[in-house]
Formats: sequence, C-alpha cells, structure tokens
Amino acid sequence: MSKALAEARDSLRTAGVADPAGDVRRLARWAEGDAARFEAAIAMRAARRPVSHITGMRAFWKHDFIVTPDVLDPRPETELLVELGLKEPFERVLDLGTGSGCILISLLAERPGTQGVGTDISERAVLIAGANAERAGVADRIVLPLSDWWQDVGGRYDLIVSNPPYIARAEMADLQPEVRRFEPRTALTDEGDGLGAYRAIAARLCDHLTPRGRVLLEIGATQAAAVADLLAAAGLADVAVHPDLDCRDRVVSARSPA
Ligand SMILES: C[S@@+](CC[C@H](N)C(=O)[O-])C[C@H]1O[C@@H](n2cnc3c(N)ncnc32)[C@H](O)[C@@H]1O
Repeated sequence: MSKALAEARDSLRTAGVADPAGDVRRLARWAEGDAARFEAAIAMRAARRPVSHITGMRAFWKHDFIVTPDVLDPRPETELLVELGLKEPFERVLDLGTGSGCILISLLAERPGTQGVGTDISERAVLIAGANAERAGVADRIVLPLSDWWQDVGGRYDLIVSNPPYIARAEMADLQPEVRRFEPRTALTDEGDGLGAYRAIAARLCDHLTPRGRVLLEIGATQAAAVADLLAAAGLADVAVHPDLDCRDRVVSARSPA
C-alpha cells in the first residue's frame, strides 16, 4: 500500500471510523488519482462525514442513488424490503417515507409496467427521489407527492412498503456521529418512543391495501413484537417477522384480509 493510503487509513482509524481500510479504498477510487481531491475527502471522512455525502452517491440493490444531507443514506439491510417485495406479483406499489426513493425505484425497475407512489414529508427528499427515478429510467411510472403519512394519499395498492423513522428520541444521543450529525433528523426519529410512525401507518393500511395486498415495514431490531401487535390490532392478517443477514429482526410483513 502506498504511503498516502496508509496514512489516510491511520487518520481514519484515529478518528474512530469503523472501516478505515474500506473507506480509504472507496474514496481513492472516487478521487481517480487526484491527490488533492483524495486528501480533502479523507479530511471530511475523519470529521465523520459519511462516504456517501462526500461522493454524492450510494449503491443500493442494482442502481447508484444520488444522496445528499436531505435524505437518509440508503442502508444495505433495507435491500431485504426489496427482496421480499419482489417475491410476489404487484401492479401498484406505495412507499411511505421514500427518501432517496431507493426502495420504490428498485422495485419499479425490476418490474416493467408497474406504477409507484412515493410520499415524503420532506420537499427536498421528493426532489432527490425524482432525480433518482430519472437516472433509473422509471420517472414515467412514479408519482412523488408531499404527504404527512396518509394525508395526501389516495387509492389502493397491492404492495405497501415503508422504512419509517424508528429511533426513539432517547436513543438519538447514542448514534454514531455520521448518523447523528449528518443525516436528517426527521428521517431518523419520531421524537417519541420510536413507534409513532408505525401507529400512524397501521391506522390506515386497511383503507389503502387491495384485498390480500401485502405490507412490508422495516423495523429496528427490538421492535418486531410491538409492530406485529400494531398490525394485528389494525385488522391485518398473516403477520410475520423476517430477519436480515445478521439474524436481526428487520422487516414485519402482513396482508389485508380477503
Ligand atoms: C428512515 S428514512 C427512509 C428513507 C428511504 N425510504 C430509505 O429506506 O432509505 C424515513 C423517511 O420518512 C420520511 N418521513 C418522516 N416523517 C414523515 C411523515 N410524517 N410523513 C411522511 N414521511 C415522513 C423522512 O423524511 C424520511 O425520508
């Protein structure tokens, strides 16, 4: 390894970055041999700015997504929602809290002819989702309204997905600096016990799912039982919990009654 790469790795390790060697590789690839660009990137990363905020992009499922400080940096574990969504046929899909649009756009790109609605409370997020939809070639099949959960959502969908803000307010201080200082707070927490968004979503699911339509909700690792109870109490059937590759509960699914 060259001296510059070794020094960069040491500087990230000293700053407390979790994967210094991996981040040095990613940033070196992105800098394309421009030493000044690489040095500036390492300085930003040492200040705990996320790699995606430095490069402006994040790979998710089969596409590269534009990422800015206005949207959640798409997480690899969220790909489980896409994987589960693709296990069944769907024609109309709704994504509540779409952010960069990574889930919805990935689903639409895999299923030609399907239509999608992606809502968010953040105007800047829906603009970024729109740019990502253009890049992925699905812009003509997607609508991105601003909406506070169900407020401006109409119609019924055979698939509803969401990765809502699920961190409790009391847990915000424990987050890594990359998340706490650089990601949008509205994407992270409901400012309550972490279940507020699930309560709001569960309350109207039966009004917006087609008969036997499916809902898939990403959850925090300790929230499976609480979210499963909320869905069952809202009249959903076939409630199930799905672990991620690290064996942590990651998604709760259910169906609307026939
Ligand atoms: C955890 S992020 C998920 C973003 C994206 N779906 C992903 O998986 O990367 C949650 C998203 O919900 C949005 N959100 C927060 N409160 C909302 C609300 N009341 N109504 C609609 N969207 C909301 C945030 O702006 C954010 O984009």
